[in-house]
Amino acid sequence: MSVSIKSAREIELMRAAGKILEKVHDNLGKALRPGMSTLEIDRLGEEIIRSYGCIPSFKNYNGYPASVCVSVNNEVVHGIPSKMHLLREGDIVSLDIGVIYKGYHSDAARTHGIGEISEDAALLIERTRQSFFEGIKYAKEGHHLHEISNAIAAYAESFGYGVVRDLVGHGIGTHLHEDPQIPNFTQKSRGVRLKAGMTLAIEPMINAGRYDVVWQEDNWTVVTQDGSLSAHYENTVLVTAGEPEILSLSSTEA
Ligand code: CO
Repeated sequence: MSVSIKSAREIELMRAAGKILEKVHDNLGKALRPGMSTLEIDRLGEEIIRSYGCIPSFKNYNGYPASVCVSVNNEVVHGIPSKMHLLREGDIVSLDIGVIYKGYHSDAARTHGIGEISEDAALLIERTRQSFFEGIKYAKEGHHLHEISNAIAAYAESFGYGVVRDLVGHGIGTHLHEDPQIPNFTQKSRGVRLKAGMTLAIEPMINAGRYDVVWQEDNWTVVTQDGSLSAHYENTVLVTAGEPEILSLSSTEA
């Protein structure tokens, strides 16, 4: 496994990609409402991505048919947008989006509540987000990759949640998926030593129930095996000698 170190020029491009992706998420998140189909979300998302001069990186990736992964309630990730699937008040919806700007990728996910949601759902969303921040405390030069994994898992599991094991985060740069793989669950080994200039897509997927997931017939949509709710939070992060720089999140809100 070799983890690429980005040059100053590459980092500038990844910053630009990340800033755009943050805006895509902000704009799309604000447009969500009950009655909207998951296909409309994808169409609007693609339009926003292209309005910034970017390419949606998920479209046709390994045959994935859309620009935005839209995963509702018990769907964990990779939900396929459909005109038949309408959002309802009380749903939680995870939007996972990747953009390419001048050859450089950024990847980020957010889970939103539609209208009023249950307290359990709101807590799951907030704690999934926080698990990312617990993890990136260790995304610093000199720490080891699996310190990130272990911190995410310890935090999420303290609430009795299941940390998805069958899907992981990843390095990112000129490709959507680069080395290393970044598990969100507890690891026995310490993983690679982190260095300034590594760019990582860290993406905890957390189930309210057990961690087990299954793939649906479409071969994409991943759902919780026990039917429990699932949330997803992801950012593209630059490792530095000091605090990590969250490339797809410059503001404090998400
Ligand atoms: Co990703």
